[in-house]
Amino acid sequence: MARPLIADIDLDALRHNYRLACSMAPDSRAVAVLKADGYGHGAVACARALEDLAPAFAVACIEEAVTLREAGIATPIVLLEGIFEASELEQVEALGLWMAVHSDWQLEALLARRAARPIPVWLKVDSGMHRLGFAPEAAEAAWRRLAAAPDHVCDLQLMSHFATADLTDTGYFTRQMGRLRALAEGLEAPLCLANSPATLARPEARGAWHRPGVMLYGSDPLEAASAESQRLAPVMTLRSALIAVRELPAGEPVGYGGRWVTPRPSRIGVVACGYGDGYDRHAVDGTPVLVVGRRAAVAGKVSMDMMTVDITDIPEAQIGSEVVLWGRAANGELLGVDEVARHCDTISYTLLTGVLPRVPRRYHGAS
Ligand SMILES: Cc1ncc(COP(=O)(O)O)c(C=O)c1O
Repeated sequence: MARPLIADIDLDALRHNYRLACSMAPDSRAVAVLKADGYGHGAVACARALEDLAPAFAVACIEEAVTLREAGIATPIVLLEGIFEASELEQVEALGLWMAVHSDWQLEALLARRAARPIPVWLKVDSGMHRLGFAPEAAEAAWRRLAAAPDHVCDLQLMSHFATADLTDTGYFTRQMGRLRALAEGLEAPLCLANSPATLARPEARGAWHRPGVMLYGSDPLEAASAESQRLAPVMTLRSALIAVRELPAGEPVGYGGRWVTPRPSRIGVVACGYGDGYDRHAVDGTPVLVVGRRAAVAGKVSMDMMTVDITDIPEAQIGSEVVLWGRAANGELLGVDEVARHCDTISYTLLTGVLPRVPRRYHGAS
């Protein structure tokens, strides 16, 4: 038997989630964010599945765009961080990419370029995330310079990113929106603001474009789930099987450091999945997994290639039984990646992007 660990990717669920993002903002166009290899799902497969729906894709860097172009994806692609050096402009033009401009040096390089055709530009404003972008006071001048260079720049949009759109406390989000509104009104700029949480929960952030990322993959980014976010469908199921079962008396330590000690006579299932596959080693005892579609709990520290789960209350579990680390079990039971992330003191983004290349991806749907 081959090692049973596999990431099943449901491309129909991806399309469902993309359509949900569109339905949340019907007057806005949704650029599907495919960076970090499609949040670990395989950017090329995701792009092919969304090609007929999405007017544009977004990635973090030119290398990710090249991967999509080499796979034959012709859809416009936005570079969310723009170029990292001026020499990339040639490729931006050759590959027909769109680019964010977040810094003076990028703007100067763009305007200094000998342009064969203009490049669609998303001017990035730092409205409060304090990561990338022009300060609002500087953004107006940058906008006007770009707008005055139609040989170099076309389809100018104003872009910004929210720090707290996922929180129920909307105080800081409202401050960011206020700064953006003031700026956009003066410029009559089309806006691209909303990430997944803002797409789901902040109607005032919907502009000409929105940029859903993690919600496309079925993760709910909101601090407090909404009726809409509950309609998201999981795209990845990380699936494995039990490769050994042990019967232990009470009082026996399990795994490295003996972190978990059997509180009663226990059955322990050994799962073929570990941190060498990307499963988070910070998973605490009690982190849920599904064994034959029933809830079981991580018991003991995650190892590189294996982990141990308490299956004392699942007598039908045996060697070869299905284990779902997150996603949907064969019996239809669901274990959300967000719930697993909470037990690992992290977020779904790190779990999904962290699934390592040695885990084969198996694609379903969207044929
Ligand atoms: C600039 C930008 N836009 C959009 C996104 C998508 O965010 P999310 O995955 O929360 O929807 C990201 C993700 O980090 C981003 O950096």
